[in-house]
Amino acid sequence: MSTVLVLNGPNLGRLGSREPDVYGSADLDQLRATLRQAAPEGMTVDVRQTDDEAELIHWLYEAVDERIPVILNPAAFTHYSYALRDAAALVTKAGITLVEVHLSNPHARETFRHTSVVSAVATGVIAGFGFDSYRLALDFIARSVPPTA
Ligand code: DQA
Repeated sequence: MSTVLVLNGPNLGRLGSREPDVYGSADLDQLRATLRQAAPEGMTVDVRQTDDEAELIHWLYEAVDERIPVILNPAAFTHYSYALRDAAALVTKAGITLVEVHLSNPHARETFRHTSVVSAVATGVIAGFGFDSYRLALDFIARSVPPTA
């Protein structure tokens, strides 16, 4: 049995109604259902969302302590949270996979979105494919991360 943490940052709780032209019209529950369906047998997908930087950081500590791979959409924290970046570095420095994902392609948007303070410490980055950004990350983790006991 293995678990993947899918962590979502601020305003992603409003998926479905928030700028549907950018983020699509499906909500977080639909993301949860999509990922659970896409997960291979025996893999638990734990999808969470918070608007709170401290909570997101503590979930990354949990990933380190429990050795759980992470799919992280840091949302706006991507662009300025050195605290989140440092917590993400704890994950990857511990040898645990952390894939940074974005629904949109931040590089095709406003200039402030072109910088990610998280990418340099992530295992990899997938952006611009809507829910498929998460599915691709899940597929990578399913194929590359040995199941935990
Ligand atoms: C986002 C892109 C960020 O720039 C933005 O602040 C978000 C969502 C995305 O998934 O495309 O909240 O991370």
